[in-house]
Amino acid sequence: MLDQGAPPHDRTETVPASPGLGARLMRRKPVERLVAEGGQGEGGSLRRSLGLWQLTMISIGATLGTGIFVVLGEAVPKAGPAVTLSFVIAGLTALFSALSYAELAGTIPVAGSSYSYAYATMGELIAWVCGWCLILEYGVSVAAVAVGWGEYLNELLDGTIGVTIPDALSAPPGDGGIFNLPALIVVLLAMAFLLGGARESARANTIMVAVKIAALVLFCAIGVQGFRSGNYDHFMPLGMAGVSAAGATLFFSYIGFDAASTAGEEAKNAQRDLPRAIMLSLVIVTALYVLVAAVAVGAKPWQRFNDSEAALAQIMRDVTGQSFWGTLLAACAVIAIASVVLTVLYGQTRILFAMSRDGLAPKVFGRVHPKTGTPRANTVIVSLFCGVLAAAIPLGQLADATSIGTLFAFALVNVAVVVLRRTRPEMPRTFRVPLSPLMPALGFGFCVWMMGSLATVTWVVFGVWMAVGLVFYFVYGYRRSRLATAEK
Ligand code: ALA
Repeated sequence: MLDQGAPPHDRTETVPASPGLGARLMRRKPVERLVAEGGQGEGGSLRRSLGLWQLTMISIGATLGTGIFVVLGEAVPKAGPAVTLSFVIAGLTALFSALSYAELAGTIPVAGSSYSYAYATMGELIAWVCGWCLILEYGVSVAAVAVGWGEYLNELLDGTIGVTIPDALSAPPGDGGIFNLPALIVVLLAMAFLLGGARESARANTIMVAVKIAALVLFCAIGVQGFRSGNYDHFMPLGMAGVSAAGATLFFSYIGFDAASTAGEEAKNAQRDLPRAIMLSLVIVTALYVLVAAVAVGAKPWQRFNDSEAALAQIMRDVTGQSFWGTLLAACAVIAIASVVLTVLYGQTRILFAMSRDGLAPKVFGRVHPKTGTPRANTVIVSLFCGVLAAAIPLGQLADATSIGTLFAFALVNVAVVVLRRTRPEMPRTFRVPLSPLMPALGFGFCVWMMGSLATVTWVVFGVWMAVGLVFYFVYGYRRSRLATAEK
């Protein structure tokens, strides 16, 4: 156990006196130290205010959004009616990894999520790589999601006051516009909530989650009335390759179930509640996705999905023949997607908070405001970064970049769970992955398969992203890491 009297950053680690480069890159942060530092930031501590209910809502809040309301429309032309199968494949990929997340979140309940799990098991370099991928999963996905929000906002404005924001101000360059103003606005709104405090943000998120679940149930109830079995006649028109390509794209819709794991330092009973929240949210979300996709392709021939951005709202309108229902769905989607922006932005700030505490990101990300118990400066910087990205880059490119980064991070979590079982078998675990190492191996395999189904251009973007990340690490984190400082 750690000496509780010493400040956590000053504790010496079990590293050799003058380790070589390899040993430095592999330096690991002991689990006990990760847990003991939980909640502590520069100038204050995060507040523990979240229970199982709020944690589950954070995960659902971060997951259900653009993927089902917008990206579904892009995936159907790739797979046809078999898009339902694509959802199942993407869901299985998420499920195997969710089991690993649940075990690690219960064992190492801290804010850094998979970054911290990697730090405890595979060493600093891999932890950095993981944290860098999490910026794709969280930071870049906030931007992607915000873009989807703008599409539904236009649908809503059109349905209510008959006006839409002109392309120049609602689309980025490359998509026929100059600047995506709505995307920037929703990120700034989320920032305002987060600055208020984790508990307040969680409360607002819970209301928004209730709205989005109700909207999707309503969609199924109405959409099923337009169901034509003939729409399923050619179930897999583009073969298995189409199904897996659509699965890789749709994987985006599952991203976020792990968001509860970034709230480890604000949870009241993290070890008990985090694994439950992760698994519960994934089950609820998967059930909704498969149902909604089955109804959507039953109500509208798959070949006609090319013509719409706000696919679900259009189906509601077509089935009922009344624009009111489409507009209502668009209104719910606007709320739904805003909650993804809120919770994913939250996750990104907490991951950077953990990285900053370890010395791998600048100190400003670890500063806690004494009044609200939140990392304020961190929240403002991250929001501005995501807002500008959202305003300037098209959704499709952002969504795929997010997916590849997330899949890579998930693959690492599946490895981390097996490593920790070997290196620390005696640690108390509130949740255990069944049939380990088979399940984590399957999780790893599915992640690699999904990554392989993504387009070459996405791999190029990913390669460049990782190269930039490695330069950052060697220029900054390698020297400033707290473990490095302890070695001197
Ligand atoms: N899963 C999140 C969404 O679909 C990122 O919006």
